[in-house]
Amino acid sequence: MSNAPLDRRGTVLVLNGPNLDLLGERDPEQYGTTTLGEIEQLCRDTAERLGLEVRCLQSNHEGVLVDAIHDARRDTVGLVGNFAAYTHTSVAILDALAAYPAPVVEVHLSNVHAREEFRRQSYVSRVAAAVIAGAGAHGYVLALEHLAFLLDAPREA
Ligand code: DQA
Repeated sequence: MSNAPLDRRGTVLVLNGPNLDLLGERDPEQYGTTTLGEIEQLCRDTAERLGLEVRCLQSNHEGVLVDAIHDARRDTVGLVGNFAAYTHTSVAILDALAAYPAPVVEVHLSNVHAREEFRRQSYVSRVAAAVIAGAGAHGYVLALEHLAFLLDAPREA
């Protein structure tokens, strides 16, 4: 093990889906009071610490999210995605993720397993390397740390 600073290992796409632009105002009991802007800054700070870059995008539109996943095929080494309600409904996002060649970590602020039954079904989980739910905004930190771990793994093997 070396204590040398980490090299830049590439860009991670952080995708947030519908209604997450309302974080901070929307159902704080469920989602906390941290805003999307604060979560994106947390991702940038975490990525910096891990020697990664991040590109952040939020959209309320399924097709915009699909296009972003397609674009990410060209230039990213991993994807952190909170697809919000589309998690539970979108075969289009599942298919786009299935064609994405690098690891995907699925994040939910709330513990979706402790809520309504329909939130327990996730199309995204079928292709996710890991799923983090219920850790609030810290879930994004855990997701980036896990991607960094996966990116390091071949070197450590
Ligand atoms: C969510 C959980 C989803 O069920 C919900 O539709 C959201 C947010 C979460 O982060 O806990 O919009 O993905």
